[in-house]
Amino acid sequence: MVEVGAGDSLVCELGHTAFGKLVLLDKSDSMLSYSAKYRHLASLVVGDALALPFLNNSISVMVASLADPFNVPEFWSEVRRALRVGGWCIFTSPSYEWARSFRLESTDELQGAALFQLRSGERVHLPSLVWPEDAQVEMIRRAGLTVVSTNAVGIDALPTPLSPKILGCKIVVTGFVIKNTGRPA
Ligand SMILES: C[S@@+](CC[C@H](N)C(=O)[O-])C[C@H]1O[C@@H](n2cnc3c(N)ncnc32)[C@H](O)[C@@H]1O
Repeated sequence: MVEVGAGDSLVCELGHTAFGKLVLLDKSDSMLSYSAKYRHLASLVVGDALALPFLNNSISVMVASLADPFNVPEFWSEVRRALRVGGWCIFTSPSYEWARSFRLESTDELQGAALFQLRSGERVHLPSLVWPEDAQVEMIRRAGLTVVSTNAVGIDALPTPLSPKILGCKIVVTGFVIKNTGRPA
């Protein structure tokens, strides 16, 4: 099992380690260091979601939680290549409803990017690619994968206190359950 863009691993936090070998992959060494506490459960690998360091047809389950920074066709081609036929990918992204309304209403925000303020006070925009659900499903389908179900996570499911960034939005996260059925791209 592989968690891509793991940061502070959600898979380990939830205790889903019953899938045998677990690899936590992130492009950022400093983001991955939040998972150093899980070294006894998983191998930590610095690597790129757009060039996954795994053999073809080698992974049974892939999890990519809040994976909007690398939600591009190249990532989905890599998922298709590395997943076994019959393997599963669980992918979540901020909801399109939230991303669109929040980014349109805030003067400093840009579509396709998330704004972060660093400790130094500097503000940076990082890629955040959030698509309407039908476009998201189509991108995954074009890679040769099959979306089996989609799930909406409502604001009521989140623990409080809530970030002001998500207030006023009903659906905050969208989840996709995806299977590699062996269909060609
Ligand atoms: C929004 S965070 C999500 C972290 C964690 N999965 C979670 O649910 O809290 C996105 C993560 O993706 C990583 N990331 C961004 N681009 C990446 C890429 N091309 N390959 C691998 N990881 C990437 C970032 O370093 C960051 O840890």
